[in-house]
Amino acid sequence: MEVFGTMKNIALISTGGTIAGSGRMSEYEAGTLDVRSIIDSIPEIKSLANLKLFPLCSKDSNDITEKDWLALRDLCHQLEKDPSIDGIVITHGTDTFEETAFFLNLTLQNRKPVVMTGAMRPASAVSADGPMNLYEAVSLASHPNAYKAGVLAVFADTIYSARDLVKTNSLKTNAFDMGEYGALGFMRDEHVYFENMPYRKHTCESLFAHLEYSQLPRVGIFYVHAGADPQLLRYMLDHYDGIVLAGSGAGNYSNAIKTVVEEYDGPCRIVRSSRLLEGAVFGSKIFDPEQKTIPSFKLSPHKARILLMVALVYTQDLEKLKMIFETY
Ligand code: SIN
Repeated sequence: MEVFGTMKNIALISTGGTIAGSGRMSEYEAGTLDVRSIIDSIPEIKSLANLKLFPLCSKDSNDITEKDWLALRDLCHQLEKDPSIDGIVITHGTDTFEETAFFLNLTLQNRKPVVMTGAMRPASAVSADGPMNLYEAVSLASHPNAYKAGVLAVFADTIYSARDLVKTNSLKTNAFDMGEYGALGFMRDEHVYFENMPYRKHTCESLFAHLEYSQLPRVGIFYVHAGADPQLLRYMLDHYDGIVLAGSGAGNYSNAIKTVVEEYDGPCRIVRSSRLLEGAVFGSKIFDPEQKTIPSFKLSPHKARILLMVALVYTQDLEKLKMIFETY
């Protein structure tokens, strides 16, 4: 089957996750199988594209670290320069999927399609979802326009943007969502239907795609809750390069937390975000009268953490950081 004229050459980078998991559905181990065995279970994939395999690691995605992100970024850049490769598919566990996806969306120089996928059921489960997700991801990575939307993800016949996708369900195969944005499109077997395009800067147009670094600044998340300990925040401010406040409501917190933020005068940069799924965080004269914090707008705390990490590689200037959060 030749979907777009000639069969494309797709690099398949595997990192582990449930898609490569084995065992019973309720008690399996992620990242134990070779991706080759999943490909062998989808004979149709061989007539969709020529696959070249790049096993990077074999981890439960909870064990993925910033070091793995940098290794993944380097490999994607090598494959971008390789004229024999037309597109890239990355398999990844679903738990921290959106973090790796957003990091790559912000930092890849790629103009070739990069599509991520995974699975909620292990490869050995009854009706595993990984094979179909992988089949559709390979087809999407072969699509000539896929690169324009930045790093993409495919789950359950739906195309998502790396910036906005969120894992919202811990059980179902339809585990991802883009909240108020819906989705970028859908797939019907190997056929791709784009409906929307992301507006925010990504990949080759991103400022962070052209920065070189061998490690990322230390950024932590302080989770706001009733009775949250201000001493813990004080400790974090003294030990991290950046802190994301996962605030209540529109990025809010107690008077005790506000006092710590107001009194802090050191180099650590503070982002105000929200633990809520919908809505946005803006500058607040009530919670931050001196405007010392950076509003995260619609980014979740864990995505705001990634943007702050890559932004701090570029600048520590508060006003520039605020502009970056308005742009990305
Ligand atoms: C993981 O994130 O590696 C385990 C869970 C999953 O892939 O669904």
